[in-house]
Amino acid sequence: MSGGSFLWRGAAISFRAGESIASALLRAGERDLGADGAGARLRYFCGIGACQNCLVSVDGSIAESCLTPASDGLKVDPVEAVHG
Ligand code: FES
Repeated sequence: MSGGSFLWRGAAISFRAGESIASALLRAGERDLGADGAGARLRYFCGIGACQNCLVSVDGSIAESCLTPASDGLKVDPVEAVHG
């Protein structure tokens, strides 16, 4: 498996083989992952799927960005941009 790129807010983010979406976003300097339903800002925090602070929309489905492997061509957006 090799790296590639996915879209974050419509902009290409490159990733390395085996990297999570959250890790690739962090390495690209993207720390603000949008807002949750209550308006709190989401960001990478625990890295193990426990805090739910890194939820994003991945091809239209809500997922933990720290647990979701980056893959070529994914469309990743803040949750509120897709699910209101
Ligand atoms: S950073 Fe805590 S669930 Fe992803």
